[in-house]
Amino acid sequence: MTQATPTSLTRAGQPADAGTATKKVFVKTYGCQMNVYDSERMGDALSRDGYQPVDSVEAADLVLINTCHIREKAAEKVYSQLGRLAQLKKRRNSEGGDLMVAVAGCVAQAEGEEMIRRAPVVDVVIGPQTYHRLPGALAKARNGERVVETEFPTEDKFDRLPDASAGTIRTRGVTAFLTVQEGCDKFCTFCVVPYTRGAEVSRPVERIMSEAERLAAAGVREVTLLGQNVNAWHGQGSDGREWGLGELVHRLAAIEGIDRIRYTTSHPRDMDDALINAHRDLPELMPYLHLPVQSGSDRILKAMNRRHTAAEYIRLVERIRMARPDIALSGDFIVGFPGETDEDFEDTMRLIREVNYAAAFSFKYSIRPGTPGAGMDGQVDEAVKSERLTRLQALINEQTRDFGRQCVGKTADLLLEKPGRNTDQLVGRSPWLQPVIVDAKAGKIGDIVNMRIMQTGSNGLYAEPVETQSGNQGAISFDS
Ligand code: 5AD
Ligand code: SF4
Repeated sequence: MTQATPTSLTRAGQPADAGTATKKVFVKTYGCQMNVYDSERMGDALSRDGYQPVDSVEAADLVLINTCHIREKAAEKVYSQLGRLAQLKKRRNSEGGDLMVAVAGCVAQAEGEEMIRRAPVVDVVIGPQTYHRLPGALAKARNGERVVETEFPTEDKFDRLPDASAGTIRTRGVTAFLTVQEGCDKFCTFCVVPYTRGAEVSRPVERIMSEAERLAAAGVREVTLLGQNVNAWHGQGSDGREWGLGELVHRLAAIEGIDRIRYTTSHPRDMDDALINAHRDLPELMPYLHLPVQSGSDRILKAMNRRHTAAEYIRLVERIRMARPDIALSGDFIVGFPGETDEDFEDTMRLIREVNYAAAFSFKYSIRPGTPGAGMDGQVDEAVKSERLTRLQALINEQTRDFGRQCVGKTADLLLEKPGRNTDQLVGRSPWLQPVIVDAKAGKIGDIVNMRIMQTGSNGLYAEPVETQSGNQGAISFDS
């Protein structure tokens, strides 16, 4: 599963060498963390190609849009953006300049040649599996060719793209994403990912380990392992055995400097004992798990092809909580899947009450052309979907607030990530992924400080120094 986050803007890598960087690129990223990661890799490749990142379309020679297909009418929104870019290009041309436009991501993958036909402003259409070909595609485009790169190639894009590392490529602060797996073989009937991202592929152990080592050397202390089905990751280990994600996180935790590990997004069917036990045994593995269920109704789960029941999901949650009692769980929910009755929806509400989430993303079902759900009978009225979504979100918000309130009084190790809005504050991250605001005197960015959470606020939690340090520097201590 991809985790859809609100639209985010990502800047490509810092200039490798401002002296030689002459061309300017504006990168706009939509969708999941996987897209954020991919944009960074493309930004790195472009900075090697002499591109410097800029913050506005107006200042750019190249606009790269990394698109997401999870949202409704995704393609139409991209086309309307391209319409605006066509105006800008026309203006540029009339002034003797030029503008190049590249479209990447899942909408590019799904549209392919059609995108060039409908939006001649586009120079390059490039799918998620072919990003390593971007510099070559741009070179061809500069010679007036229109380039569409959307097949699923046999070579591994990660072998060709520069790794996230120190040196010529910008460092990314103290936290970083690391893609370990891509694609999906699950074919949930509502979802486009298996079509746009292709089959499940795991990156080999050595590649992941060396990227993590380079990240650690560049000052990264927390890595978030990414994959559409991250817990389906598997690979041949250095001991010759087949490893799963549980084994991999153990090896990553042993890297000097990597103090915190997270992973997203997981499918309930791929949550094996080794991974669950890693939550019990490995202090570096943060107590947060994004484990989408989508619905609490067995009938709807079946129609969605999720291949598990509500009871199986709840039993799984129990096993995970047995291993790591304080784990923060988050989920994804879809309301108004075809055929969903009031009773089905009440089953979802019941499951949410039973699980008690720390956070969740929730969506109204919307048709993705080409998926089995699109042709199903019993499409649900928009007003009914809206009403269900409002109720579901109210319940989740209540649970999120409760989760924050329960943290008050606890001490926790906070990774100080960035400056706060006020100059005398820093923002740290709790093990449970909450932003925590602390006094800047608490430490410097990159420090992990043990502090007491004092109160909840609209922007996150607030923490203060622990007056009487117990001497226990473990990942978390619940001393109240
Ligand atoms: N309609 C609504 N939500 C969807 N998602 C995926 N496809 C659809 C769709 N067609 C949601 C799922 C998934 C998340 C990333 O986006 O909840 O887990
Ligand atoms: Fe996740 Fe299902 Fe989509 Fe695969 S098909 S990415 S498991 S929602």
